[in-house]
Amino acid sequence: MSASTHVVANERVATVTADVIAALHAVLERHRVAEEEWQAVLRFLTDVGRHDEFVLLSDVTRTSVLIDALSHESDAPDATASDVEGPLYREDPPWRERPVKIYEEYEGIGDGDLLFVAGQVTSADGAPLRDAVIDVWQTAPSGGYDLWDPRQPAYNFRGRFGVDEAGRYEFETMVPQPYTVPTDGPVGRYLELVGQHPWRPAHIHFKVDADGHERLVTQVFFPGDPYLDNDTIGAVKPALVRPLKRSEDEQALARRGLDRPFYTCEFDIRLRPASLG
Ligand code: BEZ
Ligand code: FE
Repeated sequence: MSASTHVVANERVATVTADVIAALHAVLERHRVAEEEWQAVLRFLTDVGRHDEFVLLSDVTRTSVLIDALSHESDAPDATASDVEGPLYREDPPWRERPVKIYEEYEGIGDGDLLFVAGQVTSADGAPLRDAVIDVWQTAPSGGYDLWDPRQPAYNFRGRFGVDEAGRYEFETMVPQPYTVPTDGPVGRYLELVGQHPWRPAHIHFKVDADGHERLVTQVFFPGDPYLDNDTIGAVKPALVRPLKRSEDEQALARRGLDRPFYTCEFDIRLRPASLG
C-alpha cells in the first residue's frame, strides 16, 4: 500500500492519539526534558507493564476517576453513582447462597466488627429488579485483600449472589479498614518520588448486573474515615458514603443469634435502564 492510499483504520484512535502526542511533546519542551530523563520514563513504563500495574498507575494518577466521570456524566440522576473498579477484582468469585456470608474465619482475622450490608436493587424508577446479581469484594479487617494475605482462603471477602423477589439483598461481612494500594512495585516508587501517600479509605466494591440495565460498578464508603477527603485515587463521592449503625441491645443480638455487637449499613442500588443511552 502506498503512502497516498493509506486508509486510517480507526479515526478515533488517530485523532485522540495525535492530541496526546502533541500534549506530551509540549510538556517535554516546556520542561526541557533530557535524554536520560526520557529514558528513565521509558524504563519506568516498561517496569509498570512487567508488574501488571497499568491499572494501578491509572488509578493513583486519578486518570481512572476522570474516565469514570466522563463515561457517566449523562447517567440518569436517579441512578446510583458509579465508581472506579480498581485492579483487585477477581473473575469468577464464588456464588454465595442465602444467608449470604462472604468470608471465612482465618488465623489472624483479629477481632474486627461484624457488618451486615443490606438494600434493594431497583431500576432508576424504583421498580424492583428480582434477577439482579451482585458481586462484592473488599479487604479483611486485617491483612488486606485475599490476594495479598496467604493466611486467608482464596476469594475471602468476595462473593456473588442474587436478590429476593423484591430485589432485596443482605450479606454478612466485617467492617473493612483503610489500606494502602500496593507500594512494592514501580507505582509505589512513583508515589514516593512525587510525595503522594498510598492510603485509601475503607470501602466495599460492588458490581451489579440486571437484565435490560447498564452494569453498575461502584464503591461504598463510611463516614469518619481519615482518608475520606484524601483518597489516594480520589474516588470518594459524597453520594456513596453510607452510615454504619451499631446494634448492641439484647433483642437485636438474639434476632441474629449473635453474642457480640454488630453494625448494619443500608445501600439501595438503582440501575440505569440500558435504553437510556
Ligand atoms: C481498590 O480499591 O481495590 C484499589 C483501587 C485502586 C488501586 C488499588 C486498589
Ligand atoms: Fe478496594
